[in-house]
Amino acid sequence: MKKIAIISSSVRRGRNSHRVALYFKNYLVENSLAEAEILDLKEYEFPLFDERLRLQKDPSTRAIEFALRIREADGVIIVTPEYNGGYPASLKNIVDLLYDEWRRKPVAISTVSDGPFGGSQVITSLQFSLWKIRAWTVTAMFPVIKVVEAFDENGVPVDRKAADKRAAGFVSELLWCIEAKAKMD
Ligand SMILES: Cc1cc2nc3c(=O)[nH]c(=O)nc-3n(C[C@H](O)[C@H](O)[C@H](O)COP(=O)(O)O)c2cc1C
Repeated sequence: MKKIAIISSSVRRGRNSHRVALYFKNYLVENSLAEAEILDLKEYEFPLFDERLRLQKDPSTRAIEFALRIREADGVIIVTPEYNGGYPASLKNIVDLLYDEWRRKPVAISTVSDGPFGGSQVITSLQFSLWKIRAWTVTAMFPVIKVVEAFDENGVPVDRKAADKRAAGFVSELLWCIEAKAKMD
């Protein structure tokens, strides 16, 4: 079974986008679509970026372990909030930290907001950074509007049928890219 790493990007106290990361983990596992694990940037507590991992003289075991998890994942789902039209520093931190690990990595992006626009502005800057670092961003989107109304704290969607329908399309695009890549490797 393919492995999908879900990056939960918000480290904010009282964050809500983590609900969407929990949802994806449950969705993938319950539907036997992939092995899934959440890489929670709040738990990692990475210091502010000061050098790329491959150039660090004395890298932390946490950073090495994180890099390995990305390397070993067949695909990645990034769940990101939108902060002032961009993505959070916690996420930029780990995009810049790694290098080879991102190369041709299928990455699907879910943008989350507590308002009516579903983080529609964050997608452009994040797509661009991931393209620059040579990740393979999947074109499907999973914007979440009014996240607190849409998912509970355990990631259970209020309207499961609608959420699962959207997730099916989103995840199938990611799995397609994973399959396509496996054929070329
Ligand atoms: C510093 C900051 C800036 C924000 N800017 C935006 C924004 O530009 N657009 C938007 O839709 N929501 C914005 N929000 C609200 C987030 O969408 C909201 O916090 C949501 O729950 C996702 O972030 P969270 O996981 O940190 O909770 C902002 C929140 C913070 C803390």
